[in-house]
Amino acid sequence: MRLPIFLFAALLASPACAADGGQLFADQCASCHVTAGASSEAGPSLAGVIWRRLAARDDFAYSPALKSRGGAWSPARLEDYLKDTQAFAPGTSMYFVVTDAEERKAIVGYLRSGR
Ligand code: HEC
Repeated sequence: MRLPIFLFAALLASPACAADGGQLFADQCASCHVTAGASSEAGPSLAGVIWRRLAARDDFAYSPALKSRGGAWSPARLEDYLKDTQAFAPGTSMYFVVTDAEERKAIVGYLRSGR
């Protein structure tokens, strides 16, 4: 009976778990974004977002700020956006930011993996 509790505690303590992009995405992004299928009202779908043009989906009403920014989502650019969305594209309708650099990397890695 104690073993599952022990395993859970060990997982929580392990640094690999702290940077689990899939888990971070579920906790921080999934309330507004999906990684497959259509966009919701809360946010654009992030299916295949890495190397896609910014604000490129037809099924989401992007802000003029993000639409006029131009270029594609390289992993480094996406990390910049997550660090400070308003600095990256002043007026963007995404306000959520990820302050921890390691977490940003892990989340972008997860999106890159295409899962
Ligand atoms: C409260 C809702 C919300 C949360 C939480 C949120 N976002 Fe967003 N996100 C948005 C909205 C709204 C936009 C559209 C921004 C615009 O049009 O300016 C957006 C845009 C984006 C885009 C640009 C997509 C494109 O098609 O160009 C990416 C990438 C993104 N978010 C990633 C994330 C990640 C990763 C997280 C979690 C760390 C996250 N977002 C958390 C609402 C959210």
